[in-house]
Amino acid sequence: MQYQSPFEDWYTYSTVHKPLPDFTCETGLVLFPPELVPGIGHPLVDKLGDHATRRLMMRKLESYNAFTEKLEYKAVMAASIKIAQNPRAFGLCEQAGREARLIVTDESHHAYVAIELIKRIPGFSELPPLAPSQPPFLRGLEELEKSLPAEFADDLLIAFVAISETLITSILRGIPRDRRVVSAVRNTVRDHCIDEARHHSYFVYVVHQHWASSAPDRREILASLYAKLIRLFLDPNIDLCRAWLLEAGLDPHDAEVVLRDYYSPERVAAGIRADSFPTLKLMERVGVLDHPTARPAFVEQKLID
Ligand SMILES: [Fe+2]
Ligand SMILES: [Fe+2]
Repeated sequence: MQYQSPFEDWYTYSTVHKPLPDFTCETGLVLFPPELVPGIGHPLVDKLGDHATRRLMMRKLESYNAFTEKLEYKAVMAASIKIAQNPRAFGLCEQAGREARLIVTDESHHAYVAIELIKRIPGFSELPPLAPSQPPFLRGLEELEKSLPAEFADDLLIAFVAISETLITSILRGIPRDRRVVSAVRNTVRDHCIDEARHHSYFVYVVHQHWASSAPDRREILASLYAKLIRLFLDPNIDLCRAWLLEAGLDPHDAEVVLRDYYSPERVAAGIRADSFPTLKLMERVGVLDHPTARPAFVEQKLID
């Protein structure tokens, strides 16, 4: 695939060259779309009152931003640096390698804005810290790395980041237009989306080239890895949600009832399929799904039938 730089207008349009978003939090508006916060609207949570609802929203926003920071620092920037330093290892041209450094800059800025946003939410500084936990994607990557021959460690990271950068989650898609949500959150997500549109086309190229330049042994590994990485990125962090529900005042039994209702297997599978749709189409276009080990792996992860 020919590289077509998505960064020609980078100095004009990238958000790192703009002022910080307007962080206004209007009273009466919500911090996050309620249907994306587990428990909100559930009768067991409604009974706890407005304070519990607001606390759950804050926890959701906090975790979304903490996730963004970790993803940028530990995965996207790390992968982009590897690409910048050795583009040929993944079948990428020299210009794509040079421009990976612009992604490092963008992502570092996204991490900064994510944390600034959360610090400016009224009431956030009084929120007690939750027990620190590693996001499941980092644990999952460590486990997958152990299961692979050492020489594929970089391929694992590049494949994971290519997946995460080509997925369009419902959060990125919906929030900027959602008038129920405070301006601070909408503006921050909108800015992030503007840069991510550029990264999306860049990583479509990465997936094409990584696959096309791979010898049969690397293809064998990538074919089943992609399916696992899509699930790893999109699977909900149920342990974290349980901690929020307990903190909001539910007893362990009621927390499980709420989690079972919100994260029913059908609902989780439908959400993951919707969010991964563009990436699944990409897998098809690139030819990954024609590989004999890919299709069973995608079926096993319930991404296709
Ligand atoms: Fe980003
Ligand atoms: Fe990105």
